[in-house]
Amino acid sequence: MLKLRLGTLSVGLLAAAGLLLALGSSAVGQGGDNDVKKIADLIKKGDMAGAKKAAQEYAKKKEIDEVMYLFKPVKKYNGLGVTGSDQGIEQVLIKLNNAAPTAAIMAKMADSYAEMGYNIAAVGLITEFHAPTQNMGGKKTKEEWTKWTTGSVEAALKLAEAAKAKNVADVKTQASKVNNNCNSCHTIFR
Ligand code: HEC
Repeated sequence: MLKLRLGTLSVGLLAAAGLLLALGSSAVGQGGDNDVKKIADLIKKGDMAGAKKAAQEYAKKKEIDEVMYLFKPVKKYNGLGVTGSDQGIEQVLIKLNNAAPTAAIMAKMADSYAEMGYNIAAVGLITEFHAPTQNMGGKKTKEEWTKWTTGSVEAALKLAEAAKAKNVADVKTQASKVNNNCNSCHTIFR
């Protein structure tokens, strides 16, 4: 009897652990760095000046490759991730660039995609402070760098708006624009 009860108890504990794991994986997007999320929150509130100041502080502490890792998945890389998805921001952007989300996915992911937009904008502001201080030859100029960071921030904010409006076509358009800004900068600087 006691054995049976213990058995039931441990099954119960296992189930609870499983539930926690399940909750944990549905909470992906909570990876990465709290400081970055604070910057994203400032942007969301419309405090761009505050966000830029915090981004500048953050940029002093992190190298550009560490900043870029925020776009990787939570798992293995501790990227920011996208709530409700196992993929990192980079992968989700590519997916949305290839095809607009279905209405069902849009309904489920609207908040996550909006959050992703603010997170991308935050990383964009941080990246801006990693602009080369002097021209590095060829197209590797400060102007080019700033053009693509500013472009990614603008498109990311529009992506957040499109997600909040659950506008699937516009989510795809703005995700593509963000993606083009990533790629344009990588072509020159990476
Ligand atoms: C202003 C320029 C710029 C923009 C904009 C930019 N990146 Fe990068 N990215 C870089 C540079 C430079 C590197 C190489 C960093 C290094 O390894 O030192 C890089 C590297 C990366 C890496 C690889 C990290 C690694 O070492 O494996 C990923 C992933 C990445 N970027 C994702 C993105 C995504 C997604 C976007 C757009 C949302 C983006 N980047 C926008 C400049 C940029």
